[in-house]
Amino acid sequence: MTERHDAVDVIRTKRDGGVLAADQIAWVVDAYTRGVVADEQMSSLAMAILQRGMTREEIAQWTQAMINTGETLDFSDLDRPTADKHSTGGVGDKITLPLAPLVAACGVAVPQLSGRGLGHTGGTLDKLESIPGWRADLTNEEMHAQLRAVGAVVCAAGTGLAPADKKLYALRDVTGTVEAIPLIASSIMSKKIAEGTGVLVLDVKVGTGAFMKDLEQARDLARTMVNLGNDAGVTTSALLTDMSTPLGRAIGNALEVTESVEVLAGGGPADVVELTVELAREMLAGAGIKDIDPADALKDGRAMDSWRAMISAQGGDPDAPLAQGKHVEEVRAESDGVITSLDALGVGVAAWRLGAGRARKEDKVQAGAGVLLHKVLGDKVNKGDVIMTLHTDTPARMSRGLDALSEALDGTGAVSIGSGDVDRQIILDRIGTAT
Ligand code: URA
Repeated sequence: MTERHDAVDVIRTKRDGGVLAADQIAWVVDAYTRGVVADEQMSSLAMAILQRGMTREEIAQWTQAMINTGETLDFSDLDRPTADKHSTGGVGDKITLPLAPLVAACGVAVPQLSGRGLGHTGGTLDKLESIPGWRADLTNEEMHAQLRAVGAVVCAAGTGLAPADKKLYALRDVTGTVEAIPLIASSIMSKKIAEGTGVLVLDVKVGTGAFMKDLEQARDLARTMVNLGNDAGVTTSALLTDMSTPLGRAIGNALEVTESVEVLAGGGPADVVELTVELAREMLAGAGIKDIDPADALKDGRAMDSWRAMISAQGGDPDAPLAQGKHVEEVRAESDGVITSLDALGVGVAAWRLGAGRARKEDKVQAGAGVLLHKVLGDKVNKGDVIMTLHTDTPARMSRGLDALSEALDGTGAVSIGSGDVDRQIILDRIGTAT
């Protein structure tokens, strides 16, 4: 087959700071997926994009080209609007678990395609798989049927959505080009737009435990994604939220399920409840619903009923006891004072090393492994109080988990005890929000 463009011309255009034509973009993404454009050519183009950037039009065209390489889902036959949430990933970020059934209980269907975790941020599917019997792999027909019957589904994203992204992401990972904002935004949004949701709320995390360490960078990414979604006809907004310290008290798969169930029962840590309710309000507002307060559905048990139905529909037993780490070790306060810093990255890496996460795609995770925080940022402690417990099935992992807590970035350890009040703001900014 004669190709209508030449990869080297496309690379040169971007290398020299030019704007790619729509057809060059459509061709290069498709040709790369077909194997006609070689990995070394695409890696050179990705580096040129990282250095030169892309215009709003180029990013939209690139995203559409990625969508065109695979299938798209369509939920327009449902009797309800659809809304989804995407988080850029953080430590203890279990919000999808209470959020999906909560929004469903308020009359908006939630089709959420999720992934497994890699590195120090946990994956939603890994968390749900700690529920005995629960199954992540659904067909498109099963997903549709569950949305009709229950209103919420969280399942594995198959290989059919934006296959170009899978190939390109693996290449970016080994060529130092993951950080290009046009490529991050198009990677995330191609999958979300192809998923067919009507409303999308982005939770862009900022801080040591997040992909974006800095607020300005996070704003830039959020604006780019909000524009992309809205330009593609998906009502999209973003919250920028704090990830300098873990979310909630539980970090690890089964531990996070337990905490999510506490939230659904009307309790749970204040930060998890606040973020769940804020994201739910935003999803409902995007779907045009402003007269229902999701906080009520958490308190009166409707969200819990919806959770039980969602878990049972995928073979899970919502009443089954969850796995617990076989070995537990305590970390105690070395002095009196106030917890003035509890670093998200240090705690996330500790949970990961204890077995809650994986280093390679093929690794298995331990359902019961992780970290439970008994004291959080701003809490008063006395010398000898238990600050956290570490849980694992593998005793040899315990010392590596403890090392992660003492190796925080500034060398002072993941936990600092000082004096004075600590003010923590969860929601740092909003982009394009309707609430
Ligand atoms: N998550 C994605 O899906 N893609 C990226 O490029 C970065 C984070």
